[in-house]
Amino acid sequence: MITIALPKGRLMDESLEVLNRCGIGVRVPESRRLFFYDNSGQYRFLIVRAQDVATYVEYSAADLGIVGRDVLVETKRDVFELFNLGIGYCKMVVAGKDRSCIYNKKTSVKVATKFVNIAKEHFFRKGINAEIIKLYGSIELAPLLGLSDCIVDIVSTGRTLKENGLSVIEEIFESTGILVANRVSYYTKHTNIKEFLSFLK
Ligand code: PRP
Repeated sequence: MITIALPKGRLMDESLEVLNRCGIGVRVPESRRLFFYDNSGQYRFLIVRAQDVATYVEYSAADLGIVGRDVLVETKRDVFELFNLGIGYCKMVVAGKDRSCIYNKKTSVKVATKFVNIAKEHFFRKGINAEIIKLYGSIELAPLLGLSDCIVDIVSTGRTLKENGLSVIEEIFESTGILVANRVSYYTKHTNIKEFLSFLK
């Protein structure tokens, strides 16, 4: 039996689509149950927060997981990257009203974000003094209300930025969904994992 952690939210639907397309019949239960099996009973799926997928995998609670590169880079979990599924494409960006919100500042730049580590590292690499303000959602509001000068966040369609009068100032990296594996399971369950992977490829 292989256990696979799936991320709640934006990557869930696309993950299920990929699995079904590859012949692994899955349907999320309508109840509040947080795990389910595929039609063959060979695979067990866990429904977890996107930020927790790699934690379940690192600590062997799941053998495999599907996680966005954005979250993987931010959480720095020790997992084995098996395969880029190419789903859930988005970009990690710095956004704001315009470039002057960063480059004309004499004091440190205030950055609102859910991605504290990524934001810290980005501004450190650029040699810009940044004060990182952690938020848990609706990040685009922060510069509008003067809570921050800019944001570091993901952009998918670009609609949220546009409709809040913000634009991309810098692109940091591109992100898609990655299949990750627990480092021990990768060896102890190699045949099963290889078979699962062969369905996906
Ligand atoms: C994410 C992200 C942006 C938005 C980008 O938020 O933080 O706000 O999606 O998508 P778009 O470019 O297609 O508009 P999410 O929907 O996860 O909600 P949140 O603000 O509660 O984190």
